[in-house]
Amino acid sequence: MMMKTGTRPPPLIYGILALAVLSRWAMTDPDPLQDYCIANTTSSSSSMTMNEIPCINPASATASHFATSALSKPGNTGNRFGFNVTLANTANLPGLNTMGLTLARVDIAPQGVVPPHSHPRASEVTTCLKGYIHVGFVDASNRLYTQILRPGDSFVFPRGLIHYLYNSDYRTPALAMSGLNSQNPGTQIASLATFASNPEIPEQVLEKAFKITGQDIARIHNNLGGSWMEFSSQDDKSLLGRI
Ligand SMILES: *[C@@H]1O[C@H](CO)[C@@H](O)[C@H](O)[C@H]1NC(C)=O
Ligand SMILES: *[C@@H]1O[C@H](CO)[C@@H](O)[C@H](O)[C@H]1NC(C)=O
Repeated sequence: MMMKTGTRPPPLIYGILALAVLSRWAMTDPDPLQDYCIANTTSSSSSMTMNEIPCINPASATASHFATSALSKPGNTGNRFGFNVTLANTANLPGLNTMGLTLARVDIAPQGVVPPHSHPRASEVTTCLKGYIHVGFVDASNRLYTQILRPGDSFVFPRGLIHYLYNSDYRTPALAMSGLNSQNPGTQIASLATFASNPEIPEQVLEKAFKITGQDIARIHNNLGGSWMEFSSQDDKSLLGRI
């Protein structure tokens, strides 16, 4: 016998489905199974990859494993975008391993920009410490949320959404600190992922997607040239380009 076309599952089913979807969205890094798991950054795992970094023997733990001065110095902002991100992560703060955390120092030169980018594995909260920072993110309906942060002001960039930070001042460098809820948030800079990938996205695809010509593409390639190397990284051992 055929099901009546108007038949619907009871509302409870929708509730359970919605909960399943929401809890999936809320997921961050896996929960730790120990008080701490200080990263053994020298351990070589050539034949396998793991979701986290192996721990040292807990008997060898010291307070210094939980401390770093990595964020005390400004990064060099003399690159084509005028920003630098310095991370406190498992490479320089091994006690962070399995905690689902990354901290970032963001230096932005006058007129510098952290170009539109996203973190596939983390939400971010950023606090302006110096200067004025114009921040914004675009949600999945393409609505822009934007603010100007003064020292002490904070702003949230939801996980996976495209966002940017811009120092519109002509003289004063800006400084922000960001916390991210993953030990390996990942970063995709939209312009580089699109126009400076390796290998490149086929020209016909870019022409059609952006309604531009091969000349336009060549100019953009040229302007961004080489930046995919400068700003790319996959894993949490590198200190470059994850924001
Ligand atoms: C780190 O891993 C290496 C290689 O597996 C091991 O020899 C070393 O003892 C480990 N270090 C600590 C402090 O546990
Ligand atoms: C960020 O600053 C560090 C330290 O000055 C420098 O080694 C690195 O090349 C800079 N990164 C970029 C992308 O400019």
